[in-house]
Order: sequence, then C-alpha cells, then structure tokens
Amino acid sequence: MPLKVVAGNWKMHHGPAAARAFFRDLRSILDHSPIDPAAASLWVFPPALSLAAAREASDGLPITLGVQNIHWDESGARTGESSAEMAAEAGAVCVLVGHSERRHLFGETDEETARKVQAAWRAGLMPILCLGETLDEREEGRTSAVVLRQLDAVLPAWIAESGVARPFVIAYEPVWAIGTGRTASPSDASEVHGLLRARLRATVGERAVSVAILYGGSVKPENATDLLVAQDVDGVLVGGASLSAESFARIAEAAG
Ligand code: PGA
Repeated sequence: MPLKVVAGNWKMHHGPAAARAFFRDLRSILDHSPIDPAAASLWVFPPALSLAAAREASDGLPITLGVQNIHWDESGARTGESSAEMAAEAGAVCVLVGHSERRHLFGETDEETARKVQAAWRAGLMPILCLGETLDEREEGRTSAVVLRQLDAVLPAWIAESGVARPFVIAYEPVWAIGTGRTASPSDASEVHGLLRARLRATVGERAVSVAILYGGSVKPENATDLLVAQDVDGVLVGGASLSAESFARIAEAAG
C-alpha cells in the first residue's frame, strides 16, 4: 500500500486550548493503535494563532503542521497578514493555498493564488494548491476547464531555473462537496485527478508522479476507505471530520 496523506484543515476552529486537547486525545489514541508511518502521513492545519500550541502538544507525534494561508510578500505594511517566512519560522512545514473559502469568501484570484504558491517555495514551505469547481460549473460541463485553469495558473513557476520540479501537492476539492455532506464519488474524484495528473505529466513527464493529489469535500471515516483506494487519489484533505481526534484517527486508519 503506497503512502497516503491524511490532512486535517481545522479552518477557523480550535483555539490554543482546544488544539492542545486535540493532540492530547490523538496521542492517547495513537499510543493504543499506532498508525504505520509507511502507510499514512498525517498533516494538520490549525488556525495560525494555535500553531504554537499545536506544535508543543504534538511533540513526538508523527504529525506535520501547516498553516491555512499566507501573504505573498515577505514583510511590510499588510495589517492582519502573515508571510510564508513567518509561518516557516513558527514551525509550519506546509501551507494551504487557494482553498475555495479563500477564493469565494475572500475573493482570491488565480493570480494571487499563484503568488502565494511562489511565496511558499521561496520560504521552503510545501504548498497544497486547493482547486475545484462550483456546482454551477459542474452542471454546465466546465469542471475540466475550471480545474485546469486553476492548475495552469501556478505551473509556469513550478520548474525551477535549475530544472528541478519544486515540491507541490494538489487538493481537488469540488466546492459543492465542501461542508455539505455531499461527497464526490470515488470515480468522480479519480476522473478529475487523472486529468490533473495528465496535465502535470505533459509539463514535466514522469516527474509528475512526485505530486500527491488529495481529494477533499465531506470526507469522513465512513467514506474514507473507498476514496483512499480510488485510482490517482493520494490522500484526503478533511475539514469537519478532522476536528475530533477520534474521527481524524479513524480516517488515518483507513489509509493504513
Ligand atoms: P469538509 O471540508 O471536509 O468539512 O467538507 C474540506 C475542506 O474544506 O478542506
């Protein structure tokens, strides 16, 4: 069984105290039923203000921590923002970029998303580029055009001048499946993942296999196994069901 990523996006949930409680619970679950690190890689994206508490409370656990957003500049008069460099210094290893809530609630464009991806690379963070179509776009038959447009916005900067493909993860999250209880079927997910993979391959050939493509949108313990074994699905990005250590651990078990 290849390594699967199980990533939890807490969104605007769990302040520092709740973050500590989550990792206390997760530690006791993993003490009794450890996750095979060769089967599942566990990532958690707490709110930035809970990152320090999460870091301390997850010490010694097989958890990679990230942030949910960054600004593309390194520093400056950007009240309320944090840079990729600051996130890295605070202990983040990866960052969500272009989540549908950022795109739709905060109006972030493909161009801004691409700048954030480049800022992540500049600071040595792994960007997780989130993309996905809305229900209207799907019903109008525009899913491929939308997700490929979102991917194409970041591809020109993907290959460094040295020719090396920069580290990069994609999360396909159909907007109609996020927080709605409606999940894409494993075959819907595979179809879009295959399309994204083909675009990566057309850009860098076989090196495209280094890019993990996660599925997100109403993933829960009950549907995680079917999604995780689907063709071209390298892991899952979980919102609501990642808030409890118990359900997060059950999804991680499904990967193993
Ligand atoms: P959900 O969120 O699992 O609650 O649908 C997924 C996400 O937005 O990353």
